[in-house]
Amino acid sequence: MKKTDGTSSIYVTQPVLPALEEFMPYLEKIWANKILTNSGPFHHELEQALCEYLGVKHLCLFANATIALITALQSLRINGEVITTPYSFVATAHSLLWNGIKPVFVDIDPVTFNLDADKIEAAITPQTSAIMPVHCYGRPCDVDRIQKIADNYGLKLIYDAAHAFGVQYHGNSLLNFGDLSILSFHATKVFNTFEGGAIVCPDAKTKQHIDHLKNFGFVDEVTVVAPGINGKMSEFNAALGLLQLKGIDAVLDARQKIATQYRSRLENVTGITCVGDIADSKPNHSYFPILVEADYVMSRDALFQKLREHEIYARRYFYPLISDFPMYRGLPSASHQNLPVAREIASKVICLPIYPDLSEADVDRIADLIAH
Ligand SMILES: Cc1ncc(COP(=O)(O)O)c(C=O)c1O
Repeated sequence: MKKTDGTSSIYVTQPVLPALEEFMPYLEKIWANKILTNSGPFHHELEQALCEYLGVKHLCLFANATIALITALQSLRINGEVITTPYSFVATAHSLLWNGIKPVFVDIDPVTFNLDADKIEAAITPQTSAIMPVHCYGRPCDVDRIQKIADNYGLKLIYDAAHAFGVQYHGNSLLNFGDLSILSFHATKVFNTFEGGAIVCPDAKTKQHIDHLKNFGFVDEVTVVAPGINGKMSEFNAALGLLQLKGIDAVLDARQKIATQYRSRLENVTGITCVGDIADSKPNHSYFPILVEADYVMSRDALFQKLREHEIYARRYFYPLISDFPMYRGLPSASHQNLPVAREIASKVICLPIYPDLSEADVDRIADLIAH
């Protein structure tokens, strides 16, 4: 909404949408063939197109990433305890509770803000069945070390890759690490289908099992092999995904430009740290986190309020920590002394607005407010 001084409210993100008229032919096809869901032609086409674009072998589309996370855990029969991060969106840990699994929080690394590989082993017990790290902000976890730990202890490794669409690491898709990776195509994500998600898996047999689980466990008309759920993506969302995919490279380029502009404007501001890219990765700039350090002119929350007063709605992702929410804070691993790094980062972070339609002038306006 435009204000009288010509400026508008700016949110942390704004969904990318294709031109409406370009979507009409897709809708006409759906209206003509009357296939709305249940693995229709657009669903099939989007799975193929995403495998090709992302450089992965198999992918199962879902209605959203939360159902995909819940189903991923079911598909590998994970139970007991799972090691995970407190520095994420609540859905990561909620997917464990929905499966009756106890989350065990391990602190994060001060550079990547992802699970600290040095601290994982001490949290493993005879009940541990898996590790579920998050590639937070799409910045890669220490995948090689975490895989070694999983292998040594016979644990499954499921990545919450909700932020990691299109990210490359060591010249490979980041989604090819671990046993399974889960993507989100929510409206706020780099690639959106309004709502949506996917599980990336390494082989056709696993894909088939997951496809059964997301369709109530049906194998055929009369055979149900598991207490599956309804996790299917509709034809509407899949069709939109196909159209969105045509514009994804432009989206990633635009994000890169904004990140570069923020960095050049903010890197010399005393007390502001721009969170850097991880070496040997091709980032997607899904977020632009900064840390407000003790030597900045005001506190993190004062800066957050100052931006709001100018109708710039940055977000404190991820504050509070998941481990501070009522359903988790009683866990021994949620204690303050167990998670000092996560606590410190959560107290300093602000994610600045970043989305393709954010203008150079808006980035300058935000940077000016932070710099002065
Ligand atoms: C790290 C992480 N995991 C899971 C989710 C859940 O995704 P969805 O909204 O598609 O269910 C999100 C969503 O924002 C997220 O940021």
